[in-house]
Amino acid sequence: MAIQINKEGVPSVINTSTPRWIWLQLLEACNLRCKMCYEWGDNGAYKERPVLAQLDINVVKQIIEDCSHAKPYYDLFGGEPLMYKHFDEVLETLKYYGSQVAFPTNGTLLEKKAETIIEHGAHRVWVSMDGPEEINDAQRGPGVFKKARRGIEKLFDLREAKGLEFPKVGIIFIITPLTYMHVERLFFEHIDITKLDHISLEFQSFITPEDHVEYRNILKNNFNLDTNAQVSNGFVRKLSEFSEMDRKELSRQVRNIERYCQEKGVYFNAYPQNMTEETIELYFSGNSHELSHAKKRCEFPWLSTEINARGDVTSCHAFYDLTLGNVNEERLLDIWKGPRYKEYRNYLKRNSFPICQACCLNFKTKTEK
Ligand SMILES: C[S@@+](CC[C@H](N)C(=O)[O-])C[C@H]1O[C@@H](n2cnc3c(N)ncnc32)[C@H](O)[C@@H]1O
Ligand code: SF4
Ligand code: SF4
Repeated sequence: MAIQINKEGVPSVINTSTPRWIWLQLLEACNLRCKMCYEWGDNGAYKERPVLAQLDINVVKQIIEDCSHAKPYYDLFGGEPLMYKHFDEVLETLKYYGSQVAFPTNGTLLEKKAETIIEHGAHRVWVSMDGPEEINDAQRGPGVFKKARRGIEKLFDLREAKGLEFPKVGIIFIITPLTYMHVERLFFEHIDITKLDHISLEFQSFITPEDHVEYRNILKNNFNLDTNAQVSNGFVRKLSEFSEMDRKELSRQVRNIERYCQEKGVYFNAYPQNMTEETIELYFSGNSHELSHAKKRCEFPWLSTEINARGDVTSCHAFYDLTLGNVNEERLLDIWKGPRYKEYRNYLKRNSFPICQACCLNFKTKTEK
């Protein structure tokens, strides 16, 4: 599918028959309670849910089959995706239909699942690690660091022993007030970077209370949705939480990591890109829409789709308040071509959402995976 962005920044699209990139939130459950997590953290949206949802494996298989002619790229999401009881079957089905698949994981079950992940040919594994042991475990829970590191080593060793190129293995580091001073220490002292193919440094995503109110108003006025936008509420943070972060020190550490990755041949990614002092200040003062590389318009509604554990279809990654249909009731491709999706795309041709500044896709180019 070709996407063209015209001079006004409005995407025009040729051929929208099938999404090229599909996120499947396999389940909501997670075995951790990471402090910054918009799902299960201090302010997490899932904490009060009496019943946790998961995708029906038959529905997952139907989606994969229906879209197989386009061989979309898949991202498996959670909760913790490795806890999904049909995880192996999902990988097996994707392999059968020739789609590539990536997923993030907290790493606690990685050692146990490494064989299957290799056997079913996953393309990329992102292990979440937010600092050296004491910092990572302060953010993610006791004992998590050691398990995740063992998982990475097992995956790497198995892959090398079998002489395979995939899965590529990397670390996602979420930069928060608790972790930002310890980026260098993780990669220089506590992890063997030569066992990694990629590193992604990502700022904690958040929206302000004001952004949340504005988003709710947009949902009401433009999409006829009177909702408390409970999922997006998981992202709400006060700017004062970030005010003490030393911008200069963080940018110095990031520069060094980037240089180190170049030296060692490890792919380096950052969201947002260019973590200079100025970028850091704009982002953590709630002005990330002013970043030079923040998108004016988002092309993802034409390229990708996300199905959450309840079966709701949405294009905004992890922001599940605006839904466009449900795969338990309708086929994905009918939803993808349906009126609700059209209305949503039409809105985004001319506008963005206040939540966009907390969305990693806002900083992602359409070609990266
Ligand atoms: C929601 S988790 C789901 C997958 C898995 N449980 C894990 O932790 O990798 C996906 C990614 O989001 C990251 N994450 C959690 N809270 C975040 C936040 N507020 N801002 C940015 N990333 C966040 C996690 O660290 C992880 O890398
Ligand atoms: S492991 Fe992932 S989903 Fe679970 S609490 Fe941590 S960041 Fe959230
Ligand atoms: S939240 Fe914004 S940037 Fe993210 S997918 Fe939706 S429209 Fe795009």
